[in-house]
Amino acid sequence: MGIQQKAEKNIGILVILTLLTISVGGLIQIVPLYFQTTTTEPVTGLEPYSPLELTGRDIYIREGCYNCHSQMIRPFRAETERYGHYSVAGEYVYDRPFQWGSKRTGPDLARVGGRYSDEWHRIHLINPRLVVPESIMPGYPWLEDKPLSTLSIQRKLRALQSLGVPYSDEDIQNATSEIEGKTEMDAMIAYLQRLGTAFQEAQ
Ligand code: HEC
Repeated sequence: MGIQQKAEKNIGILVILTLLTISVGGLIQIVPLYFQTTTTEPVTGLEPYSPLELTGRDIYIREGCYNCHSQMIRPFRAETERYGHYSVAGEYVYDRPFQWGSKRTGPDLARVGGRYSDEWHRIHLINPRLVVPESIMPGYPWLEDKPLSTLSIQRKLRALQSLGVPYSDEDIQNATSEIEGKTEMDAMIAYLQRLGTAFQEAQ
């Protein structure tokens, strides 16, 4: 009996051979990505998140913005004409965890940085309908009233530093004073305003 027939008649062998085939195929696709600079190196000009931006990012995650917003522009014309250049891997190397998402009740936010003024974002986050009358996005007015907690910012930066994000010890030292006295709204706007701004299209 050939191996083909044996596998077809014995479910155990079939399962093992199937898993083996999928594993080898998977490794061949995945392993080279670890050695390609386009997938491991930050795009030129990409800075680690500032303490204020990083805090805003944590609030973005806490408030569940990712349930309605993706942060990844796919390389299709319908997307690039609406949102700008498609996203590249090197833009996300400091994102832990990344916020790609796939649910788009609202627009993609990967390049929203600089598209609106800070004031627009402030009003939009308090009550989206004040600037976009037909909006179904909920308001987040409490962000305006909540001062930022400085309790864990240094530890957060240190944790990221240990994972290879290039924060200097001085950055960590100064982190507390950068966010002191700011509100959650300030942090959220700082985060939104930097999204996608490091990437420059090749001329
Ligand atoms: C229930 C779904 C939903 C949630 C949750 C949500 N949004 Fe939205 N968002 C939308 C929709 C729909 C729009 C488009 C209409 C508008 O501009 O208000 C939008 C628009 C936006 C825009 C403008 C994007 C553009 O290119 O015009 C920004 C910025 C934004 N949202 C940020 C946020 C942030 C930050 C949060 C979390 C605090 C959040 N959204 C939570 C649905 C949502």
